[in-house]
Amino acid sequence: MKYSAPKGFQDILPPEISFWQRIEDSARAVFAKYGFHEIRLPIIESTDVFVRSIGEITDIVEKEMYTFRDKGDRSVTLRPEGTAGAVRCFVEHGLHNLPSPQKFYYAGPMFRYERPQKGRFRQFYQIGVEAFGVAQPTLDAEIIAMLNDFLNAIGLTNLNFELNSIGCDACRPVYKEALQLFLKDKITEFCPDCNRRYSTNILRILDCKVEKCVELRGGAPAVSGHLCEHCRIHFDELTALLEALDVPFSLNANLVRGLDYYTKTTFEVTSEHLGAQKAVAAGGRYDKLVKVFGGPDTPAIGFAVGVERLAALLQEASPAEQVAPKVFIATLGKQADTEGLRIAKALRNNGLCTEPGYGASLKSQLRRADRIGAEYALIIGENELSSGTAQWKNLKQGTQGEVALKEVQSFFTKS
Ligand code: HAM
Repeated sequence: MKYSAPKGFQDILPPEISFWQRIEDSARAVFAKYGFHEIRLPIIESTDVFVRSIGEITDIVEKEMYTFRDKGDRSVTLRPEGTAGAVRCFVEHGLHNLPSPQKFYYAGPMFRYERPQKGRFRQFYQIGVEAFGVAQPTLDAEIIAMLNDFLNAIGLTNLNFELNSIGCDACRPVYKEALQLFLKDKITEFCPDCNRRYSTNILRILDCKVEKCVELRGGAPAVSGHLCEHCRIHFDELTALLEALDVPFSLNANLVRGLDYYTKTTFEVTSEHLGAQKAVAAGGRYDKLVKVFGGPDTPAIGFAVGVERLAALLQEASPAEQVAPKVFIATLGKQADTEGLRIAKALRNNGLCTEPGYGASLKSQLRRADRIGAEYALIIGENELSSGTAQWKNLKQGTQGEVALKEVQSFFTKS
């Protein structure tokens, strides 16, 4: 019987894993400089956590959740995203009682039962950040600037930052009415999903990808024209701050996002090199969500990056390379094996990546040294042991020589 990973799930192997590590290491380094602390959240939450936050009439909740009953007959769901769990955690631990802002990041797998395709998986990894307790646009600007810094740190610079405001409880209903009026006479020509959204979640019609719907909604009123004064000032200040911080962005009036918890600022980072699944990061404000979970009124904002899509962009820029050892130690005979391991241990303690030959024939050991790209081979046999020396070969330059066993450490740390 042959097994394979479930559809939409994948193994990440070396050398591609090096991109993942670069992405994770850079995220940690950049986010720490901005005062963000890591949190680890459960992969499973009570189903209600997602239904109440993401929204009942969204693709994620309606079609994509891995929901099941556990042995205690509770309905639980594999997290489709990280914000809902982060807010549940924030309220559960009373973190609103601590000084504001509270700034967190998390990294890990998310699960959505979507139709798998290039860049879209059923298990995918996000690195997300969530900041609580500041309503001012300074925090929005800082978070977006931090995302830009992080993307630059991993070597991605040619990305599009798209920005919008979807208003608040005061102005969004007015906008929805204007949109309803505009769509009223032609809604039957839209796709069945949009027809349903017309009465359940009308904003989602704006990001339907069906060609006919895109065409039909041309000329629809933009939410930016309907913002209340408060939201308008917030958005204007944000765009001025982003300009001051040299973060390039463009405005996209159709950026409404597929999750219901957003208020005011929404943003998305896309790449032209990824085909249909081009969003590498997305986020926005969710000023109402802490209250939904029973906490006090607490403004918040965050984003998440998709690790697979970032890794694909890095891979496209330059293929992954395996980290090669500095020294390969080829040994012949039991005593030489022991001496080889002893030297390898000492070299590693000195910070050098060292690979032993594991006692195969000398020829096959040296073949492996070449294959894994080792810089040096150190050869130790019975004769070398009795004379207290070893042979070295520089496999890159083709040079060779002899080194006293007790000098091996300084020889390789200096060369
Ligand atoms: P999202 O837009 O649903 O937002 O996901 C964020 C990113 O995760 C996407 O831009 C994409 O790169 C990646 N992603 C989503 N679905 C998949 C998939 N099926 N396969 C591969 N990558 C995927 C959120 O999840 C929000 N929680 C972001 C946020 C945090 N908003 C505020 N705080």
